[in-house]
Amino acid sequence: MARYDHHDKPYDEGTRQKLRIYAAFLRAWIQVFLHTQAFPGPLRFFDFFAGPGQDINGVSGSPMILMEELARHYDLIGSSNRGIEILFNDFKEKKARALSDLCAARRYPFVPRIESEDFFKSFEGHREEIGCSPSFVLLDQCGVKFVTKEIFQYLTTRPQTDMLFFFASSSQRRFSDQFANDLQIPTDTPYWEVHRRVADCYRAWAPLNYFVGQYSIKKGGNIYGLVFGSGHWLGMYKFLTTDSGEEANYEIEAPLRQRDFFIETKLTKLEKLEEELEHLIREHVLLSDGAVALHCVTQGVLPTKVAPTVYKRLRAKGVLGHSREQQPRSSDDAIRNPRPLIFLH
Ligand SMILES: C[S@@+](CC[C@H](N)C(=O)[O-])C[C@H]1O[C@@H](n2cnc3c(N)ncnc32)[C@H](O)[C@@H]1O
Repeated sequence: MARYDHHDKPYDEGTRQKLRIYAAFLRAWIQVFLHTQAFPGPLRFFDFFAGPGQDINGVSGSPMILMEELARHYDLIGSSNRGIEILFNDFKEKKARALSDLCAARRYPFVPRIESEDFFKSFEGHREEIGCSPSFVLLDQCGVKFVTKEIFQYLTTRPQTDMLFFFASSSQRRFSDQFANDLQIPTDTPYWEVHRRVADCYRAWAPLNYFVGQYSIKKGGNIYGLVFGSGHWLGMYKFLTTDSGEEANYEIEAPLRQRDFFIETKLTKLEKLEEELEHLIREHVLLSDGAVALHCVTQGVLPTKVAPTVYKRLRAKGVLGHSREQQPRSSDDAIRNPRPLIFLH
């Protein structure tokens, strides 16, 4: 029986949502590097599971999204003297050829290298290039078997490298063999738990001070997971501010069953973080608005979602003082230029 191929039919809504998130994050990433001279050298893009460039209806896939985004920034790229290096790979020759033809037909101002290799071979051939200058690695695989512990850890050690990878919870059911890489997520793990467990595994494999973010998109019976990794707080901050629709912010919770008579009062992730911040400020562990904001980012939460509530609560309790001029901020400015918190005791 012929095997199902992702590009044999139109992208479903989950895939389109995933691509919107990718596009939004890519735009933010490109703009960060086009506005700084701090990290010189060409911007490098690696899309190791590129596909043919579009679905059967001509909706842009990840490679076209990149090419269009770069074309849009053509003038800025020129004035900031940045080179652009792009690698697209797909192990299906037919798809690589279709992608090559599409790029040529559209006459984009940048010319990608396009190859057709198995992922591991392609990665081996390019691993040294990743991180030589600002690099963005997209791994839009089927299942999660390709982002092994070795590959993930290698990418976390590369300087100036951000990575984004996707997987669908249905992969766990459909391709349980593909799902079972070093992650060792049992195939009977409830579907609403899979993404959190996967992200937690990667977080545990990451070095200290590395940022791992997670995003989930629920569409029909499927949940698409997205894992983001960056060695820099700004990468994570940009990831957290990338929001391409409410659905993308889906918080996975176990579905409530009617026969659960005793439902534990569970704190949400945000409430838990608020409690933790309150404790860390009271204990004088976090002494500035920058330290508070950075702690939130490290926990994968945008500071504006929790810090203002905590400051308000601590002022009401007489722990923190008021100062019109020295209001604690919850933006990225706070991390760049921290202000001390005003403690009353
Ligand atoms: C989920 S699709 C990615 C789609 C693409 N990002 C897009 O937006 O259209 C996964 C792609 O990876 C390719 N692929 C699967 N296994 C691969 C492997 N071992 N090495 C390289 N490419 C592979 C498939 O042919 C498919 O085009």
